[in-house]
Amino acid sequence: MHASVRSGPTESGRSDVLVIGGGIIGLVTAWRAAQRGLRTALCDPAPGGGAAQVAAGMLAAVSELHYGEETLLGLNLASAERYPQFVAELAEASGGLDIGYRSCGTLAVALDADDRLHLRELHALQSRCGLESQWLTGRECRRLEPMLAPGVRGGLRADGDHQVDPRQLAAALLAACERAGVAVHRSGAEQLTVSGDRAAGAVLTDGTALHADQVVLAAGSLSGRLAGVPADAAVPVRPVKGQVVRLTVPPAYRPFLSRTVRAVVRGSQVYLVPRENGELVVGATSEELGWDTTVTAGGVYELLRDAHELVPGITELPLVETQAGLRPGSPDNAPLLGPTELPGLHLATGHYRNGVLLTPLTGDVMAEVLTTGELPEIARPFSPRRFTAAREESLA
Ligand code: GLY
Repeated sequence: MHASVRSGPTESGRSDVLVIGGGIIGLVTAWRAAQRGLRTALCDPAPGGGAAQVAAGMLAAVSELHYGEETLLGLNLASAERYPQFVAELAEASGGLDIGYRSCGTLAVALDADDRLHLRELHALQSRCGLESQWLTGRECRRLEPMLAPGVRGGLRADGDHQVDPRQLAAALLAACERAGVAVHRSGAEQLTVSGDRAAGAVLTDGTALHADQVVLAAGSLSGRLAGVPADAAVPVRPVKGQVVRLTVPPAYRPFLSRTVRAVVRGSQVYLVPRENGELVVGATSEELGWDTTVTAGGVYELLRDAHELVPGITELPLVETQAGLRPGSPDNAPLLGPTELPGLHLATGHYRNGVLLTPLTGDVMAEVLTTGELPEIARPFSPRRFTAAREESLA
């Protein structure tokens, strides 16, 4: 589909769709909706910001598979498959912006016997799910990635798990929205407007009242905080803190790593994501600390300690940035997509660890439901109503 400039919302501030939240999920929703001819507005105090400014950008459907998340796996794989086409379309729609899509693959490694057992179990789960990954000895791992520690005991190669640069992705989506005629309001939503038992827009923190036939709440970890959402449409999303460190690989040291390298060290996930431009992202902690976004000495220490065990040479690299962001966690770690119990109010949130990976599919799904009223088959298990139904059953 080609982007075309649409007439934006009318001067009265009325649109077909209002998207609350301008992170990558809100932006992709607004862009795709506008492409379908819907007059679309979006509000966010800092569009293009949010968790994408912190995320490493791994597209890790295979290497980040977890027990009990097999349904989510189907969604993740479908989105990963859409990425090459999505990248090409977004480049055209944004006026040529690159999003750093790198089809480099991923290597998950083990440092001791416990890690090796964990990886063996992951390999068995991947095989049961029909996924492609290859078991390697420690020596084979080091042949692929010579900077790995001599103590690496084995690894799992997932050649289909790639990466993008989420900061570039956010910038390209914002440009695509603006070129497609989305009216971008640089102010947050203070209160949802409900009129005649349906969502009808929002009042922004600067006092502007926006009216829309359909509202999409896509505010990441903040989605549960919007005033005016009735209790039966409450959004069960919570913040899960992730601290991340950015290093840079000087030209003389390149190639330092040629693919994403990850491991579970002492029960904590650590990953190193090398970009073409020399950036090396080391992530991430996972902390249930509410709205706290402090970068702590302990968080940075643990990331660097674990990354150093995998790749000792990182201590030579300049440290350029430390950050903390908030993942939008949901009760089952899967996103909430589509209509809520309040007519006119949709959700596109709760993507937790998979927001970047699920961006292409979320845009398509949301544009479809906003245009036709029907949630596509693939997204039905992720309807927000799965939680409403569970609440009703427990009260019965
Ligand atoms: N998907 C990586 C993370 O959430 O840390």
